[in-house]
Amino acid sequence: MSEAFRQLLDATLQHMEALKAAGTKYVPVSVETLAALSAPPRRLAVRPSAHPVLTASRPAAPRPVDSSTSTIDSPETLMKKEAKDAALAALRQSVLVCQKCPALVKTRSQVVFGVGDIHSPLMFVGEAPGADEDAQGEPFVGKAGQLLTKIIQAMGLSRDTVFIANILKCRPDTPGQTAGNRKPTLDEMKTCLPHLLAQIDIMEPRVIVALGATAVAGLLGLTTGITKLRGHFQTFRGIPVMPTYHPAYLLRNQALAVKREVWEDMLQVMEKIGLPISKKQRNFFLAH
Ligand code: URA
Repeated sequence: MSEAFRQLLDATLQHMEALKAAGTKYVPVSVETLAALSAPPRRLAVRPSAHPVLTASRPAAPRPVDSSTSTIDSPETLMKKEAKDAALAALRQSVLVCQKCPALVKTRSQVVFGVGDIHSPLMFVGEAPGADEDAQGEPFVGKAGQLLTKIIQAMGLSRDTVFIANILKCRPDTPGQTAGNRKPTLDEMKTCLPHLLAQIDIMEPRVIVALGATAVAGLLGLTTGITKLRGHFQTFRGIPVMPTYHPAYLLRNQALAVKREVWEDMLQVMEKIGLPISKKQRNFFLAH
């Protein structure tokens, strides 16, 4: 059994124990999983060829990111998906009540855990929730978020087919200010990082896009300028990370050259995942 699978299993068991302790007597289980559970025991080690995420890397046979068009999952894949869902649900419960940063706990409306498809090969990581995200409990829903959504759509995807999270799960407080946001401090990032790492461990994304210098610093510990880093894959725990500009920067800097750079970064990401790239997408900025 792989270490990742063991972790998922442990998290699932923990979740079930917590449900039991809270008085839950029954949990819904899909017909497919029941069938898999009653089948003769088989090794559950995930072969690279059967790994739902790894197989998506091959350009020749990209895994559709839209689950509505995906092929039927094997019982093992289904069990792994359910284990991931359970692990993420357990993690969400613990993160939503996190009290590690007293100042942020005091001022936040809610914890902004993250949103999207945990089974996607692609994860976007931003900085921290702003006022809109704090109010709605979802990352990237303000103006910068709307631009991020457009970028995701230009890649032929939608918000719900990728996972979006932040380095910080709570809005940084802004004492003495009535509006605006502030960057997370190093201490806040360090304190909050385990939540993101747990999300990454459960999700096992094929590629992470780090949006802006703060996300790059928080995730990779790199303080080299984002202008130098963007467009060059880095590696985090074996996962390729593409640093690119934060959408808020694109809103402030309307230069076509900057938009083109972000788009080129996304083309690299699409290639890495094995997403189809149309001629129109390839030439997007030549046509504008
Ligand atoms: N900026 C971020 O980095 N994250 C959000 O969720 C919103 C804006």
